[in-house]
Amino acid sequence: MAQQEDVFKKIVSHCKEYGFVFPSSDIYDGLGAVYDYGQNGVELKNNIKKYWWESMVLLHENIVGIDAAIFMHPTTWKASGHVDAFNDPLIDNRDSKKRYRADVLIEDKMAKYDEQIEKEVAKAAKRFKENFDEAQYRATSPKVQELAEKRDALHKRFQEVMNAEGGIDLAGMKQIIEDEEIVCPISGTRNWTDVRQFNLMFSTEMGAAAEGTSKVYLRPETAQGIFVNYLNVQKTGRMKLPFGIAQIGKAFRNEIVARQFIFRMREFEQMEMQFFVKPGTELDWFQKWKETRMKWHQNLGFGAENYRFHDHDKLAHYANAATDIEFHMPFGFKEVEGIHSRTNFDLSQHAKYCGKKIEYFDPEMNQSYVPYVIETSIGVDRMFLSIMCHSYEEQQLEGGQTRTVLHLPAALAPVKLAVFPLTKKDGMPEKAMEIINDLRFHFNCKYEEKDQIGKRYRRMDAIGCPYCVTVDQQTLEDNTVTLRDRDTMEQRRVNIADLRGIIEDKVSITSLLKNLL
Ligand code: GAP
Repeated sequence: MAQQEDVFKKIVSHCKEYGFVFPSSDIYDGLGAVYDYGQNGVELKNNIKKYWWESMVLLHENIVGIDAAIFMHPTTWKASGHVDAFNDPLIDNRDSKKRYRADVLIEDKMAKYDEQIEKEVAKAAKRFKENFDEAQYRATSPKVQELAEKRDALHKRFQEVMNAEGGIDLAGMKQIIEDEEIVCPISGTRNWTDVRQFNLMFSTEMGAAAEGTSKVYLRPETAQGIFVNYLNVQKTGRMKLPFGIAQIGKAFRNEIVARQFIFRMREFEQMEMQFFVKPGTELDWFQKWKETRMKWHQNLGFGAENYRFHDHDKLAHYANAATDIEFHMPFGFKEVEGIHSRTNFDLSQHAKYCGKKIEYFDPEMNQSYVPYVIETSIGVDRMFLSIMCHSYEEQQLEGGQTRTVLHLPAALAPVKLAVFPLTKKDGMPEKAMEIINDLRFHFNCKYEEKDQIGKRYRRMDAIGCPYCVTVDQQTLEDNTVTLRDRDTMEQRRVNIADLRGIIEDKVSITSLLKNLL
């Protein structure tokens, strides 16, 4: 576990050192849970978005895109339920004046029991050496049994308060924190306030004060921009059910516990698609979208074992099925995408609040109805993090050397080809630039002339550049270069005229998309 945490810390540092992700307003020491993407990060992020967008809009005849505004009419959020119910349970420590999510404090306590169990097992393994039977020890050690019982009892109580009739049982939550003697990590005391609900939406004022202002929210999800445009798109695009509307855009949540780098941010980006279907067919479509989305993830080649579905037992009142796609991050399996069967809740609510009919006329049935919706919702930043985590490797090389390499899928890599002149003379830089000027229209190229070739390779490995080309004396004679592969480090001599043909197909998003058909 500690080892995984170390790896994660290294990935965070790597992201900063190599221009992927910086803390926001870094010169002022950053802003909590807000991050900026650097010169390499923005390219990777754009490629992720392109992969998603084209898999939706290009590969499906019946999916179109929109780009709705971040600000929306305030009634939107009343209708969607966010004003009344988009809350987290909070608790303050009176001594440290620090605020915590009460549910997270309890989850951390459960994790502590697990940590203690693992420590016991590790101690026993050390003591009994090769005679150690781990399964038997876990099943029979009184200490491990006691800790597991405590953890299970806490888990049961936690489930009860979270799923209480009429919403979370806040008093019950406080009672658990007291009974478990949970202390504030800063002050070390148990001087807690009551638990209360805290709305996660950011708000601001729109309009000059003299005209009278109105409170508007920064959207906490992009989905509502799609729902309020359902009629516009359906009518102007003459869309027939089933059809989908896709959107990529920023979302904002005043997360109280913001941690694990870009996993939980206050400003983040979502890629959401709402698929409108005939009532009664939604569960078949839910199943189909589960499969389609899992295929999209696994197509990146990170190994099927690193993904799993987490089906929700307890559903929101408007949903009749929901699942998460989780990815194996260094800090455990974590949600990257949510797939929800949202019934006709959102469209019906908007119809109710705006006083207009929001329906679909089905020519086959000669009847109008409110469509049902399957939603696929993925965070760009979480996807970015999962790709970084899986791609990062500190590799031991022959001769005791090491290299840090990002095995990014070539189609997502920020730079596809780096071109190096062996020396800065004899016309080699000019030849290298000639190659770049020819290929830059087809994929992202980078020119590098500083340092020894070995160091240049290392720099390119660290940003995940799949191919490097070196221009040397022989190039000037026969127009061939050495082409080096990032993952195998193999080098081969190829003709400059063949470079595009060798590289383009491997680094294009199209190559990924073709596998999805
Ligand atoms: N429209 C449905 C919706 O917003 P969600 O499960 O709250 O559902 C969907 O969010 C996805 O958005 C998540 O799976 C995650 O990838 C991303 N996401 C949500 N909150 C986030 C945050 N604070 N920081 C980064 N990504 C977040």
